Amino acid sequence: MRTDTTPIVRLEDYRPSDFLIDHLELDVRLHPTQTRVVATLRMRPNPEGRPDAPLVLDGDELNLKAVSLDGRILTGEEFDASPQSLKIAQAPRQPFTLTIETEIDPTANTKLMGLYRSGGNYCTQCEAEGFRRITYFLDRPDILSVYTTRIEAERSEAPVLLGNGNPVESGPVEGTDRHYAVWHDPHPKPSYLFALVGGSLGRVGKTFTTMSGRKVELAVYVEPGKEDRADYALDALERSMRWDERVFGREYDLDVFNIVAVSDFNMGAMENKGLNIFNDKYVLASPETATDQDYANIEAIIAHEYFHNWSGNRVTCRDWFQLCLKEGLTVFRDQEFSSDERSRPVHRIAEVKTLRARQFLEDASPLAHPVRPSQYREINNFYTATVYEKGAEIVRMLKTIIGDDDFRRGMDLYFDRCDGTAATVEDFLAAFTDVTGRDLTQFARWYEQSGTPRVAVKGHYDEAAQTYRLDFTQNTPPTPGQPTKEAMAIPVALGLVSHDGSPLGAACDRVDARGVFLFDEPADSITFTNVPALPVPSLFRGFSAPVKLSLDLPNEELLVLLRHDTDSFNRWQAAQTVAMRLLAALSTGAQKLDEEIDAFSEALCAFMDSDALADPAFAALVLTLPSEADVAQDIGKDVDPDAIHRARTDMRRRIGKASSQRLHGLYEALAVSGSYSPDAESAGRRSLRNACLDLLAAADRSMGETLAVTQFETASNMTDRLASLSVLTTLPGAAREETLSRFGERYRNEPLVLDKWFALQAAIPEDGTLERVTRLMEHPGFSIANPNRVRSLIGSFAMLNQVQFNRTDGAGYRFLASIVLRADALNPQLAARLLTAFSTWRMMEGTRRRHAEEALQSIAQKPNLSRDVGDIVSRTLD
Ligand code: PHE
Ligand code: ZN
Repeated sequence: MRTDTTPIVRLEDYRPSDFLIDHLELDVRLHPTQTRVVATLRMRPNPEGRPDAPLVLDGDELNLKAVSLDGRILTGEEFDASPQSLKIAQAPRQPFTLTIETEIDPTANTKLMGLYRSGGNYCTQCEAEGFRRITYFLDRPDILSVYTTRIEAERSEAPVLLGNGNPVESGPVEGTDRHYAVWHDPHPKPSYLFALVGGSLGRVGKTFTTMSGRKVELAVYVEPGKEDRADYALDALERSMRWDERVFGREYDLDVFNIVAVSDFNMGAMENKGLNIFNDKYVLASPETATDQDYANIEAIIAHEYFHNWSGNRVTCRDWFQLCLKEGLTVFRDQEFSSDERSRPVHRIAEVKTLRARQFLEDASPLAHPVRPSQYREINNFYTATVYEKGAEIVRMLKTIIGDDDFRRGMDLYFDRCDGTAATVEDFLAAFTDVTGRDLTQFARWYEQSGTPRVAVKGHYDEAAQTYRLDFTQNTPPTPGQPTKEAMAIPVALGLVSHDGSPLGAACDRVDARGVFLFDEPADSITFTNVPALPVPSLFRGFSAPVKLSLDLPNEELLVLLRHDTDSFNRWQAAQTVAMRLLAALSTGAQKLDEEIDAFSEALCAFMDSDALADPAFAALVLTLPSEADVAQDIGKDVDPDAIHRARTDMRRRIGKASSQRLHGLYEALAVSGSYSPDAESAGRRSLRNACLDLLAAADRSMGETLAVTQFETASNMTDRLASLSVLTTLPGAAREETLSRFGERYRNEPLVLDKWFALQAAIPEDGTLERVTRLMEHPGFSIANPNRVRSLIGSFAMLNQVQFNRTDGAGYRFLASIVLRADALNPQLAARLLTAFSTWRMMEGTRRRHAEEALQSIAQKPNLSRDVGDIVSRTLD
């Protein structure tokens, strides 16, 4: 096993900085390989710091040119500089000014952290610790400073110069071909929110008037010529700003708000103050190039980054252990926004699907960690589903427990009290304790304890007494560093449903007016009175807590919920639970399930007759079986992905056969005519129609092929075109290859569309896919240096192709290991993310497990691994 020697950073070791930086003046002269940065730091000792501490500034691969203190150039004896730090042993004990000049090479910066170039433009990424790649600094989120930035560049190379805050002045640099712009951000901020952009960019914009009547200039900057693909993002921004005013009472606080799309970006987007920088995949959209899902993602991410202006920027994090304070809260806020703008139940189901696919998976893996971790080796590896998605679930549970009004009052208090500070999870919870008088100590365990709690429930009906009792137990499995667990405070939104759907007059005094029972003991029972007949319990309505439920109800009773529950989430959940039981049983060798599968198909047919056209988006979700990865997770050990694939293909075929007339009818009825609109209702019709196509093709491959090819040829938008191509990828043969190559040809100059094409092919569950992926790496549109390309081709293979990544001969694992090593030399964050595909390795059956372990060891043994990859590989093997 690899012993990682990089130091561990611990929450318990936090102490305030010994120095403060009140103001920073930056002068950045952009140059492709020799950018000069002059930083003027107005500093003073921190009254809360140690009195005699040396000044130690962070750096990363920096090249120091000069340093002066209060205007005097320091000699070599007065400081100690390396690429990683700048130390001054005898720093003044009263306010002083430090001026530092560094030179950096943005073209050589392939890590995409700090100042780098993307598509010829200059941009920055500073979260979490990228600012130290621009200048020496106290690069920690509790150092809040006012920034003034002067940016200078060759006018022809970078006609647009953007910074944080408001524009102050701009003009030519006399006697040269250069020009400059000065930006001032009056709001003190941590260095991770710094940004600048210089380049040749097209712009779309509009004026927004805030709730107090201030005018704000909104703009989205994209590659010139793609301006028409930025309208949807601009519209989403305006709607987000309006929503935050209406729902959270939060107003924007600068004169401009700029968004810039870049094509090389490690993450989705970044909330830099007044200057959000986006992965262009989450900005650019047109009916010809983007799917309904792309439009929904753009809306959500634009909102997310905008909402950070309050949850993240105005109130920031004291240290990186508090990352969920801004991320969990902001994900919760963007989820609420999307739910309000679209269909709440449909959106909730989508959220839970991702939570289970990503966060439950992580929580059950060697990489499991608390929502607020207590230690890390590399903070970049903690931008995880747990911090983001489970972090959002915690905020949602808090709201469920205290109710909407108190939640809003608590949020107001939090924003008001913590405005302009670097806060902690404790500060967040204190606001809610103060408005409700509730003790949230046990609730706070959600931040500390990792692992997904399991809740088991048994129902007992007493006919004579007309009572129904529910017995609850909970336990949380051990996770790394946490062998034993304590009981969690779990809000259970619940109700009882009668077999024919008629209302029940049942009552229970342990259930509050909002229908919530707070389950906070290892075991507890609640009893409903006035129950005239055996009911079906509907538990965790709306998925009121991120737990795994086991409920021993027969399939027929679960299907009562699909038919009659008033809670849409649980209607969907009922169908999923039945499907999962069948898939897991089939995958692990059960033979005689014909009756059960028929009964399930019949229930789906009845559902289609009654509900499909009334809410197509919801119906599409009900008709979609759990994914192969979901089934693997459910089985949990000795997983055989081939068996799961066969079981799921077989179930799709049988459901498709049993309902083919209805599916056909729906497919015809749902055809949308007229021009494309990405709104939720039209998108819902498309998603149901395409779900029907998938089942039809599973039932009858030649009919499926004909329908899919026709749809491909007549599609008026990317959603339908890609969906037909996706169905074709399940049908090996000439039609598939022919259609794939036409698609690749048609979009050969559209990188974001090629990504979809790469992803589809990488996910083909057939022998030969690994060779196909290897071949596609030679495609002119592919580049190992571009994160979107790598994630589409390699990421899809490793994360979505259960069968081929987990090949019994281990070739899938060896391939990923070799790519991780290649990527690590260029971009460690990207490499580390790819590597997390191995986090399921212990769940696999023995042969695969051995191959996976060997592949992981081959990485672990390499010298000079990045800290990012070293950390993931050692935790995965632990
Ligand atoms: N803070 C960004 C977000 O969630 C994510 C991010 C992290 C982007 C680190 C880049 C680098 O909105
Ligand atoms: Zn965020």
